[in-house]
Amino acid sequence: MGSAMLEHGFVRDIVEQAATPFYYYDMNVLQATLAEVNRQTAGHPFRVHYAVKANGNPHILKNIANHGLGADLVSGGEIKAALAAGFDPQEMTFSGVGKTDWEIRLGIENGIGCFNVESIPELEVINQLAGEMGKTANIAFRINPDIDAHTHKYITTGTADNKFGIGIEVLEGAVKHALSLPNIHMKGLHFHIGSQITMMQPYVMLCETINRLLDHYDQLGIHFETINVGGGLGINYLEPDTHPLPDFEQYFGTFKQHLKLQPNQLLHFELGRAIVGGCGSLIARVVYVKENRNKKFIILDAGMTELIRPALYEAHHEVQNLSAAGREQQDTYDVVGPVCESSDVFAHDCVLPVTQRGDLIAIRSAGAYGESMSSRYNMRSMPASVFAGNQ
Ligand code: LLP
Repeated sequence: MGSAMLEHGFVRDIVEQAATPFYYYDMNVLQATLAEVNRQTAGHPFRVHYAVKANGNPHILKNIANHGLGADLVSGGEIKAALAAGFDPQEMTFSGVGKTDWEIRLGIENGIGCFNVESIPELEVINQLAGEMGKTANIAFRINPDIDAHTHKYITTGTADNKFGIGIEVLEGAVKHALSLPNIHMKGLHFHIGSQITMMQPYVMLCETINRLLDHYDQLGIHFETINVGGGLGINYLEPDTHPLPDFEQYFGTFKQHLKLQPNQLLHFELGRAIVGGCGSLIARVVYVKENRNKKFIILDAGMTELIRPALYEAHHEVQNLSAAGREQQDTYDVVGPVCESSDVFAHDCVLPVTQRGDLIAIRSAGAYGESMSSRYNMRSMPASVFAGNQ
């Protein structure tokens, strides 16, 4: 869907209006993704909160809010962006290990649905600030379930030796303490086991852990209104055209099958990458093609400043030459950016049609953690964004 547009000149029309590099968002892919999420969750007590950190572009946020999703937020800036985009504060959750006082106040003031609390000191501060404001704050405990999701070490979050959440072994004390605090309404439990997860096994393990916990608390007479299983569903970076949407049926089906929700319990999801990953491409122009002794390099006008994922996580993104229609010969290139860092490489040994200065290049599947992680390193400009399709 996306690439048909890319190849048939859509981008070339748009490029007349926007200087490269820019993010190109195919809103048809985003709409199809959101429709599929709503289709797979309809009729179940499921609520999907979009993880704004994946892409906070105001136009994207508005589209997602219009489809009725909630928002998962990790900073005061994201709370403001979600409010501006029209998300319902009741359907906002606020996560993060280092929430500052002003961010907590902003959340309480706007009546956000839930603080996902990551430590006891944080719980005390929320209780104190809510008390000062004459309000009650809804909270869920983020639990570190010690499940290895087998993703890149920098995006694994659910194992025991990282900074996120509180250990299951101290949960009972924390829950009882929260129930005793005057300005806290303890709503539920929250989990997040990692990102770019494509096998369902870690989610099955998560369901089993949650089932055990729910049984245990049931015996203590403690009921949770919400269970939040976080995000993490991965996308297919290798074949964006044949798999423009993630397998939501399999993902939501895993929870439908394995999680034993109690009556009146809501299941929350916090998906980021799966919602926006497929709809975005980074469009760049070839500045130079250069040959060293053993290698040919395609040097782009986009680099790690626009898309840091390959440099930071050795992430793979498909690279396409949009100007090469009719060129039959191929060559092998390293596709690199202009930034003064040797990690500023998009792809090693990439087979492409013979490429020339001035060609347009698309770096695919860049809708998630692309624009939102861009920087001004080397005093470069922030990338522009361009939208195509039904909006
Ligand atoms: N909930 C929590 C508590 C999270 O920490 C995250 C992501 C999400 C939800 C959304 O995860 P998603 O559905 O997007 O996988 N920059 C990295 C990914 C970092 C993910 C951080 N946490 C990347 O580019 O791969």
